[in-house]
Amino acid sequence: MKKLFPFFLLGSVIILLIAVFSFKLPLQEEGNKKGAFKYKDFQKPEYCRQCHNQFYQQWSQAMMSQAYTHEWDEIEYFKLAVPHSEADPAMKGVHEGCNGCHTPMAYLAGDVPPPLPSENSRANESVSCEVCHLIKGIEGDTAYNFNWVIEPGTTKYSSRKGDTESPDHKIVETDLFSDTKICGSCHNEKSPFGIWVKSTQLEWEQGPYASEGVLCQDCHMPSTEMATAKMGAVYPNAKMHLFNGAHDPGKVRGTIELRIQPDIRESVPGEPVVFTVTLFNQKTGHKFPTGSVEDRIVWLHVEAEDEKGNVYHLPVDKKGFEGEEYTIASDVLAYQDMGVPLGIDNFEGVRREEVPIGDRIFRMPYFDPQGRMTIMQWNTASLGVDYRIGPRETKTETYTFELPWETEPGQLKVKATLYYRLLVKPVGEYLEVPEEEFAALEVNSHSTEITVYP
Ligand code: HEC
Ligand code: HEC
Ligand code: HEC
Ligand code: HEC
Ligand code: HEC
Repeated sequence: MKKLFPFFLLGSVIILLIAVFSFKLPLQEEGNKKGAFKYKDFQKPEYCRQCHNQFYQQWSQAMMSQAYTHEWDEIEYFKLAVPHSEADPAMKGVHEGCNGCHTPMAYLAGDVPPPLPSENSRANESVSCEVCHLIKGIEGDTAYNFNWVIEPGTTKYSSRKGDTESPDHKIVETDLFSDTKICGSCHNEKSPFGIWVKSTQLEWEQGPYASEGVLCQDCHMPSTEMATAKMGAVYPNAKMHLFNGAHDPGKVRGTIELRIQPDIRESVPGEPVVFTVTLFNQKTGHKFPTGSVEDRIVWLHVEAEDEKGNVYHLPVDKKGFEGEEYTIASDVLAYQDMGVPLGIDNFEGVRREEVPIGDRIFRMPYFDPQGRMTIMQWNTASLGVDYRIGPRETKTETYTFELPWETEPGQLKVKATLYYRLLVKPVGEYLEVPEEEFAALEVNSHSTEITVYP
């Protein structure tokens, strides 16, 4: 017995260790694994609505609640991502990752690909209350590709414990909810080729707002005085769940301030006048555009109108940087890689942007493995020049305009307009995405005048 004792002790320690690890490990590991849980482990947003009605109503109008059901998401997922993962061995399983961010519950329930939105399954809950409020941590240092750790149960995580007890659930206060990494876990994305195809939180980190402590939450979940729950306490800084972004024209309008001025106020036909446009990013905490940069297009259109109503289009002066051709509108074709999931051999592509030729475009092109521009961000093997407008950055563009001989003497009005589209129009049209997804929105405009003498 005496001799056996150390073995017995060792044995108990091993058993204890196994017990501890088998209890701990699954949660750590399963917290973001496909098929780790069941739908019934999660409450529906309607359940939370009983006591958090205002937040529910705000969330249900935000893109967050439509991340799976929204038409363009449905089209890109079912027409491009799912067939692409079947057609190209290098893309196998790529469609599962979409669910990790757009409908995390379906992913965690192993319901991949989920039923179509029209079938009204629980996948439609998209980025629901439970998805965020059950996040207990982020794996690793950098937040990206849904590396959150979710633990279903009656414990909800938040940035404050609350003054009132909730009759429904426990509340655990965690710093993560007042950290931008919780957002970054879905708003930063790396493609299978290791390229950052979404980097909103990383852009923020490198910009001026991070050091000033202005969080995503401050601009997208603004605070106001209200009760956060039925019968709960009133807080002076309750965090509203608006999550309004690029799909809210009011949020996008005025994001960039525009000014245009000539280098000379009086001129004659045949003489050049140089107009300078200044674009100042006053509002965004990240670059503009950010997020789905492969889809978004922002362009500056400048035109002059003389006293007779003749209109002249001014193309932007070239600056000569590498990759500039992707930032000036042309009539070339692009997005040929859509042919693979669409099953079209030698697909010739569609127009790259279809905005007036010669206009400046603020964008960053994404390239497929063959070096062609793509809107399928998962198929991105490299990135082109980043000519977007950073937070608080000012860009200037010049327009050297030789006054045409037919210019009518009198006042010449020159107007600069910055436009924005959520999705490049030719792609939207080709894939039959509802028109509102590629309607041109005016971000801002400004005009100036010169006098033309005969
Ligand atoms: C039966 C009512 C009830 C239901 C159902 C309910 N809650 Fe709560 N919840 C409360 C109350 C009360 C508080 C405390 C509010 C306060 O601080 O005064 C609270 C607090 C919270 C907090 C902490 C922040 C705060 O304001 O204190 C979070 C996060 C939260 N609830 C999330 C949820 C989620 C997610 C659901 C759905 C899964 C849910 N709740 C369902 C009543 C409820
Ligand atoms: C579980 C993943 C996930 C987390 C966590 C998350 N988001 Fe999102 N968010 C999405 C997805 C997916 C969309 C895109 C919805 C769509 O258009 O399909 C989105 C959309 C948005 C939009 C709307 C953009 C638009 O085009 O209008 C804003 C704003 C936003 N998120 C901000 C935040 C902020 C702030 C946080 C952190 C507090 C956050 N998100 C956390 C997944 C997430
Ligand atoms: C994209 C992630 C996300 C989603 C989806 C989400 N929340 Fe939140 N919620 C947060 C974050 C982050 C905070 C804390 C914000 C802060 O403190 O800056 C928060 C705070 C709260 C609070 C406390 C507010 C306060 O001021 O203390 C309640 C209550 C709450 N959420 C309930 C809900 C309910 C109910 C839903 C669904 C209708 C929901 N949340 C959906 C991320 C989310
Ligand atoms: C200083 C305020 C501010 C901060 C901080 C901020 N945003 Fe924004 N965000 C905006 C404005 C304004 C827009 C609308 C213009 C636009 O679409 O970029 C926007 C747009 C967005 C969009 C839609 C962009 C697109 O082009 O599709 C997303 C997604 C988003 N924000 C997420 C975030 C996340 C995540 C963070 C934190 C890492 C964050 N924002 C920080 C102001 C802010
Ligand atoms: C790491 C998280 C993540 C992954 C993985 C991901 N997405 Fe997204 N997706 C987002 C976020 C966040 C947005 C919102 C960005 C913005 O508003 O600019 C978004 C936006 C989109 C949009 C644009 C929505 C709109 O209304 O303009 C489409 C379409 C889309 N995703 C489809 C997909 C498909 C298909 C896949 C898989 C191949 C995928 N996503 C993978 C997080 C992700």
